[in-house]
Amino acid sequence: MPDRQPSGDAERSRPTAGSGRRTPAAPPFSDLDPARWREYSDVLTGSLWILGARDRTGPHLGDYWGNFVPQIPYQIMRRFTRRGEIVVDLFSGMGTTLIECRHLGRHGIGVELNPDVAARSRERIARAHNADGVTTVVLVGDSTCPDTIERVRQELRSLGRTHADCLFLHPPYHAIIRFSDDPRDLSNAPSVEAFLDRFRRVAEHAYSLLAAGRFMALVIGDTYSRSEWVPLGFECMQICREVGFRLKAINVKDIQGNERGKGKRENLWRYRALKQGFYIFKHEYVMVFQKTVPAVSRSSRRVVSQGLARLEGSDTDVVE
Ligand SMILES: C[S@@+](CC[C@H](N)C(=O)[O-])C[C@H]1O[C@@H](n2cnc3c(N)ncnc32)[C@H](O)[C@@H]1O
Repeated sequence: MPDRQPSGDAERSRPTAGSGRRTPAAPPFSDLDPARWREYSDVLTGSLWILGARDRTGPHLGDYWGNFVPQIPYQIMRRFTRRGEIVVDLFSGMGTTLIECRHLGRHGIGVELNPDVAARSRERIARAHNADGVTTVVLVGDSTCPDTIERVRQELRSLGRTHADCLFLHPPYHAIIRFSDDPRDLSNAPSVEAFLDRFRRVAEHAYSLLAAGRFMALVIGDTYSRSEWVPLGFECMQICREVGFRLKAINVKDIQGNERGKGKRENLWRYRALKQGFYIFKHEYVMVFQKTVPAVSRSSRRVVSQGLARLEGSDTDVVE
């Protein structure tokens, strides 16, 4: 795992040699200047994520079974957000993403179904260092439900925005861990099909909440059922593509050392794997998607441009 060094954020622009004009140094979704790549040893660009031990900076703890390591939201926010922007997490759990939001100076809005977990996460998030004075909010709600999403929109509006700049989905991996007895909990979906149906609703909400051109991370693992590997990750990936996202990356993350309960039973698992012909899960996925900017046809661009030219009384050329 590279060292975490959240320094060296790019200046927003730098002069182009000789021209006197300024061109943007960093892509519009990031503070990182690609020309200064040597300074970003903490930022991953490869698809194999071996992150090592859980980062325990600030109030991060590994005590909520099913939380992801803070290095995941750290990596995504470093690459796909700018300081002061807004991150939404529709399965915020114990608040790992929102704690990282405070560490990195991004506003955060989380949704968590379980009121007790939401309350505990708020206490934890409040203890995180917040040098930039960002806002972090945890809503109790069901991310499949339009009313909950409307409340997220209200929070966005109160921050002066209509859309989020980055989005996280870290749903239950169907029934691998039962998070509650609540029937709305995705971990209580009665079948894989029912789980995927509910996940689709959340993915549609994610798409509507995210600003065009911006990025979403889906963190998900596969499951095993009735002697068969269930490719939950790829099923969810496909749903994200169907609702309109462009797939940018399938990052494979090493989960060794982050699993719970398996350590002492490793030998038993090896025995079972050899006997029953399966492989033991050692990875999960951090998939990255982009909401593409709606395409504008040449003809509509020409109409808009001609309209602007008339308004301005100038001879503006159509730039193709
Ligand atoms: C895998 S955990 C997310 C953990 C989180 N990334 C963290 O680091 O703490 C999934 C969370 O989704 C919550 N959840 C399940 N169904 C939900 C739903 N319909 N709406 C919102 N949250 C839900 C569960 O209570 C659980 O806390």
